Amino acid sequence: MQLPNKVKIVEVGPRDGLQNEPRPVPIKVRIELIDRLVESGLTVIECGSFVSPRWVPQMAGSGELLQAIGRRTGVSYPVLVPNLRGLENALTAGAREVAVFAAASESFSRHNINGGIDESLERYGEVITRALDLGIRVRGYVSCVLGCPFEGEITPSAVARVASRLYELGCYEISLGDTVGVGTPLAAQRMVGAVAEQVPISALAAHFHDTYGQALANLFAVMQMGVAVIDSSVAGLGGCPYAPGASGNVATEEVLYMLDGMGITTAVDLPTLLDAGRYISAYLGKETQSRVAAACASKLPK
Ligand code: HMG
Ligand code: MG
Repeated sequence: MQLPNKVKIVEVGPRDGLQNEPRPVPIKVRIELIDRLVESGLTVIECGSFVSPRWVPQMAGSGELLQAIGRRTGVSYPVLVPNLRGLENALTAGAREVAVFAAASESFSRHNINGGIDESLERYGEVITRALDLGIRVRGYVSCVLGCPFEGEITPSAVARVASRLYELGCYEISLGDTVGVGTPLAAQRMVGAVAEQVPISALAAHFHDTYGQALANLFAVMQMGVAVIDSSVAGLGGCPYAPGASGNVATEEVLYMLDGMGITTAVDLPTLLDAGRYISAYLGKETQSRVAAACASKLPK
């Protein structure tokens, strides 16, 4: 069995994690969370979105946040942008990396960004061109890669079409989102297989929500195909306000524990990460969604 010997973790908690909370989290708390995540050794922290505050009020203040965070060398702080206006606002706030977010499902695309897939790709083409001209890296998301809350099944070829288009437009990495967390391992492999015919596997990331408890199994399945970039969220926070039924991302604690057990190195310190998870869970007043965090808290034998 072939597994990558190194994995990059993209921490999406401060964005995907907090965008779905019933009440916006104050900027001060979001910054403290980001600082703690950086302290744990994570080197990519997605920290906000420059979207319409009417659509996602939880991400309002991302400009203020980006200006206020103390940046550490070697750490990137990408933010989501849905259009040129979002890009300009992100640049004004000092963003050095942005992400655009398309979908493999027409209905989800319309619900999430008020436009169809092709229209969004056209809009993202302009965003990516402008960003690359300014030396800003762009990551591309494809949502609903293993199923859609409105359409149900999504074919691997539909995912491959959107992923390859984003890659051709200039995204350096394509993150494949199981937005509603409905996928299972063999379906995940079929989907990645189709995408990898058009986009190098080294440019693919897995972004799996854990609604049905399949995220780690799905990650393991696609890692065997060479996927070596994993998106995850501290304490398993997360969800998309426009994907009914979606729960949080796979917890970063779970990913670290699994990688460590398989001898795959990351530079992340689990106790410091657990501390970040405790911090945000206490603030939100809810139990962590991470089984690893819960086991460590109750000092279960390893
Ligand atoms: P629209 O209504 O079609 O756009 O929304 P519009 O141009 O008509 O503008 C509507 C309002 O938004 C106007 O303000 C604009 O000024 C404002 P109003 O006149 O109503 O006061 N506006 C903006 N404000 C701030 N920043 C901007 C901006 N653009 C317009 N950049 C739009 C289109 C794309 C803006 C909207 O649909 C939107 O913001 N959607 C974002 C939805 C979102 O953030 N979803 C969650 C992220 S995706 C996700 O979670 C999935 C992912 O995790 C992967 C996975 O799990 O699969 C990435
Ligand atoms: Mg997501």
